[in-house]
Amino acid sequence: MAPTLKASESGLARIQRAKNEKGWRVGDGEWLVEASKILEPEKNWFLGGPYADGCSQTTWNRFLRGQAIGTAAFQAFCQILGLNWQEVVERNPIDTGSPDSQQTANSRTDWGEAPDVSIFYGRTGELAELKQWVVDDKCRLVAIYGTGGIGKTSLAAKFAQQIQNEFEFVIWRSLSNAPTRAQLLASLLGFLSDRQPPEPNVSHMLDFLRTHRTLVILDGVETLLAAGQPAGKYRDEYQDYAELFKIAAQSDHKSCFLLTGTEKSKEIALWEGKTSPVRSFKLKGLETTAAWEILRERELVEEAEWANLIDRYGGHPLALRIVSATIEEVFANKASDFLRETTFLGEIREVLAQQLQRLSELEKKVMYQLALARVPVSRTGLRESISSCVSGEELTEALKSLGWRSLIETLTEDGEALFTLLPVVRKYVINQNS
Ligand SMILES: Nc1ncnc2c1ncn2[C@@H]1O[C@H](COP(=O)(O)OP(=O)(O)OP(=O)(O)O)[C@@H](O)[C@H]1O
Ligand SMILES: [Mg+2]
Repeated sequence: MAPTLKASESGLARIQRAKNEKGWRVGDGEWLVEASKILEPEKNWFLGGPYADGCSQTTWNRFLRGQAIGTAAFQAFCQILGLNWQEVVERNPIDTGSPDSQQTANSRTDWGEAPDVSIFYGRTGELAELKQWVVDDKCRLVAIYGTGGIGKTSLAAKFAQQIQNEFEFVIWRSLSNAPTRAQLLASLLGFLSDRQPPEPNVSHMLDFLRTHRTLVILDGVETLLAAGQPAGKYRDEYQDYAELFKIAAQSDHKSCFLLTGTEKSKEIALWEGKTSPVRSFKLKGLETTAAWEILRERELVEEAEWANLIDRYGGHPLALRIVSATIEEVFANKASDFLRETTFLGEIREVLAQQLQRLSELEKKVMYQLALARVPVSRTGLRESISSCVSGEELTEALKSLGWRSLIETLTEDGEALFTLLPVVRKYVINQNS
């Protein structure tokens, strides 16, 4: 069992401060190269890895969250931050025996591929509402859904971190590789059971949810859902997930499943309600002050233009990260020069392409009409602009489906529902059709 170390509470604050002072950017991995040079100085190290033994993005994330990591990596990370490791280490280190699981004061946690959210802005309203649902109202199934890159995974990670002590167990699993239900259950029960894991079936899972208050976070549920037909249906080979979510939602237990995804599943849409133990949270762009912080990270100049920039991208955090990097690299940090150009999409395209390729033909038509309209449009207005061979029922189905896919925004004006697109989505749709 390899010895491990973790930071004390005050040590963690010093680590965060030192990291911010270094000005390292999220995702560039410079720290891993630096730490690898200390751990294995005889080798040449490059960005992108692989890095020295015991040194990885996951280890770094654990270190920043104050979780136990290998002694050598802990000491190297402190060194690159200019800190004396003995001054930041927790006096009674916990030896977890497993690199991915950890016992904290009140809960056992397995953060899987959860991202590092030490840099996270705003969302206080969203975090408070989620806390109300999960901690106070004891909801059993909560889904955070929203457009690609809007910040679902980050919000779920921040939230789970903040409330972890309310649960005996916290476990995070990414569904990006589309595990079968049996694989997922085996992975969950493998961590949750102390002894030989039981058969990976839903009744064993339910036993656990009943006896131990557990928070299970499943990130990216859209991988389980079918493309090319109305939103919310499972792909053929993932139909059995419906039973797992039904049990999570409707059985009597004391745990919570927190899901994130670009699409809402049919079950959640059916069961959710203001007082129901099943709720869904549609995530929108960042508020201006939080979006401002993203731009500040890049030291852009001309603050007077930033509000325009945030508005043009609807506070979409991934878009703002991409455009601020582009402004720094290509526009000498000047937002005004960038804003004179047409709306730049860069890597956002790939995120949106993945989401839009899932649409049915009618949904694509609706998106195009909404993009052309530029202003919010009513259902009647849409019906007039789309060919007459589309029935009212088909159009209703398509609008509902696009809402579940977080691709259209709905507002009400004079008692009438109007539909529109986020600015980045509009730009993408126009580009695709021109
Ligand atoms: N509150 C925030 N503060 C700072 N950065 C944020 C915030 N929310 C999201 N981001 C950044 O925006 C980017 C996208 O966030 P995230 O991966 O959480 O989005 P997502 O909705 O889960 O995307 P996807 O649909 O691709 O899964 C990340 O680089 C993340 O660091
Ligand atoms: Mg995500």
